Amino acid sequence: MEKDLGDYRKSYEKSELNEASVLENPIEQFQKWFYEVEKSNGVDEPNAMTISTIGLDGFPKSRVVLMKKYTHEGFIFYTNYQSEKGRALENNPSTCLSFFWPILERQVIIKGSAEKIAENLSDGYFESRPFGSKLGAIVSEQSQVVASREILEKRLAALEKSYEGKEVERPENWGGYIVKPISIEFWQGRPNRLHDRIRYTLQKDLNWKIERLQP
Ligand SMILES: Cc1cc2nc3c(=O)[nH]c(=O)nc-3n(C[C@H](O)[C@H](O)[C@H](O)COP(=O)(O)O)c2cc1C
Repeated sequence: MEKDLGDYRKSYEKSELNEASVLENPIEQFQKWFYEVEKSNGVDEPNAMTISTIGLDGFPKSRVVLMKKYTHEGFIFYTNYQSEKGRALENNPSTCLSFFWPILERQVIIKGSAEKIAENLSDGYFESRPFGSKLGAIVSEQSQVVASREILEKRLAALEKSYEGKEVERPENWGGYIVKPISIEFWQGRPNRLHDRIRYTLQKDLNWKIERLQP
C-alpha cells in the first residue's frame, strides 16, 4: 500500500515577520501571536503544544499537552510526574515545545529546561479542575500498561463513590512543569517557500539575541 502526497501543496501568504517589527522580548512576541491566533477564532485549542523529551531509552518522544499559563519565566503545563514524559524530564530536563497554528501559517519552537512548579501552584490549579478530571488524575497511572479499559472504569466508579461530597486532594505525583526558554523561534509561512524565521537566543547577560534563519 502506498499513498503519494506529493501534490499536497499550499502557498503561505497570510503575513510576514521581520527583524524591524518583532518585539525585543520573545515572550511578548509570543503573546502578540497568541492573541492573534485567539482572535482568529479558527483554532480549537490554540494552547495545544507538542512537547518533546529525551526518553530513558535514548529516543526523543513528542506528544501534545495543553499549555495552561505563560509568563516571562516560561510555559506551564500539567501532567503526571511518573508518566513517561515525567520520568524523561527527571533524567534530562532539556525539552522542546512547539505550536503549529495553520490558520495563520505560523509555528513557534521553544527550547528550554523543564522544572516542577511550586506545590502550592499545582494545588491551586488542581483545585480549579472539575470533579471528574480530578478523579481521572488519581485513577490513571499515566503511561503504564493496563489489561483493559474496564479496569480503569471500575477504579473511577469506586472513587466516585468514595469521594462523593468530599474534597479531592491533588495526588503527589500530579502537577505542573514550567519550561524556561533558552531559545524561541518564530516561523511565518511565506510564498515560494521563502519563509520568515526569527530566532531569539538567551544570552549570558539575560538579553535576547535576535537572528534571522534561512528557511
Ligand atoms: C489535545 C491534547 C491535549 C492533551 N493535554 C494533555 C495535558 O495537558 N497533560 C497530559 O499529561 N497529557 C495531555 N494529553 C495526552 C498526552 O498527549 C499523552 O498521551 C500523555 O500525557 C502521556 O504521555 P507520555 O506517556 O509520553 O508521558 C493531551 C493530548 C491531546 C491530544
